[in-house]
Amino acid sequence: MVRRLRRLAGRARGLGPRTLAAAALTSLLVAAIAAAAAFDATGLAVCLLAVLLAVVLAGVLQVNRRLVALRADRREIRDLRVVLDQTQRRVVSAVERQRLATEDRHRELVDAVARVQRLADRGMRGLRLAVPREMEATVQLFQGFTPRAPMPSSGDYALNPTDLLELLFLVRSRRPGLVLELGSGTSTIWLGYVLERVGGRLVSLDHDPEYAGRTRAALRAHGLTAVAEVRDAPLTPVEAGDRTCSWYDPAALADLHGIDFLLVDGPPAAVGPDSRYPALPVVEPRLADRATIVLDDANRADERAAIAAWLATVDGLAREEGMLGRHAILSYARRTLVTANAPAAGGPAGALT
Ligand SMILES: C[S@@+](CC[C@H](N)C(=O)[O-])C[C@H]1O[C@@H](n2cnc3c(N)ncnc32)[C@H](O)[C@@H]1O
Repeated sequence: MVRRLRRLAGRARGLGPRTLAAAALTSLLVAAIAAAAAFDATGLAVCLLAVLLAVVLAGVLQVNRRLVALRADRREIRDLRVVLDQTQRRVVSAVERQRLATEDRHRELVDAVARVQRLADRGMRGLRLAVPREMEATVQLFQGFTPRAPMPSSGDYALNPTDLLELLFLVRSRRPGLVLELGSGTSTIWLGYVLERVGGRLVSLDHDPEYAGRTRAALRAHGLTAVAEVRDAPLTPVEAGDRTCSWYDPAALADLHGIDFLLVDGPPAAVGPDSRYPALPVVEPRLADRATIVLDDANRADERAAIAAWLATVDGLAREEGMLGRHAILSYARRTLVTANAPAAGGPAGALT
């Protein structure tokens, strides 16, 4: 009994003050009704019963109001849950989309970095090989000659130092009397220095008056005008072999006979196809009985085709083994010393008439 009372007291502690007051009032009314009934005070008992009913009714209404409020709260909670679920789903799908996009960008970035790395590796391999080789060749060039004026820079258009080195070696060892260069520039100056030392003359043709002028100015600065000259030779349609090409005006060659060294480094490929092919068909009648021909950029398709056509059509032409560079070296030995085409047949080698 005591335990039950304690349990009731424990539960009563969990109730609010208004509930406790209502419970106490109800208990009081019940007790009063019971007492009024016991003392036959029927009227009082009926009045108290009416008050009790009113109190119970008020309690029921109160409970009902709370239930309605509770249901409204539950509905609101349910709605909130739906909104929360939808928001959560939207956030999750947005995060997922973002993750996939980031993954794609990451993959693209990794691919791009790998591509750049591959290109850089390839380039660096090329550079690692090319830079020291060109530097070594440059050092050897300047060990061989001490220019009397600043040497023009050997840019993209000029023979590279490796090719120049072998060219100068060939001229020094073969000692040509007359060198014809097609396309002037830094090579003209270097050739001038070699010929000044070993003897011989250089004529260089240029289709571009501006570059011709620059090379002439450089020859003057280096004190090489007695050895080398640059001639203006505008491009003109020239019949060569089986085709007509844009090439140097042959009038610029009119007085040259016995050319025993020909350097073909022009006109530039930009002037048109087969730009260097006419060199041998046009110059061959003016070559000495024995001559050396050097063609730069022999790795290019047009130049490879020109060499093949020359070898197929020019008698006495043979390709030599080169040591360095990207040029081709060909040797020429006239088969018949007297030909109908040779204007200088029988004339002295290396002559300017
Ligand atoms: C291949 S370049 C001749 C280069 C020359 N043999 C040398 O090694 O210095 C052929 C022609 O290009 C022109 N040229 C030379 N330098 C040039 C440059 N920096 N830019 C554009 N054209 C140039 C000149 O008219 C030259 O005759």
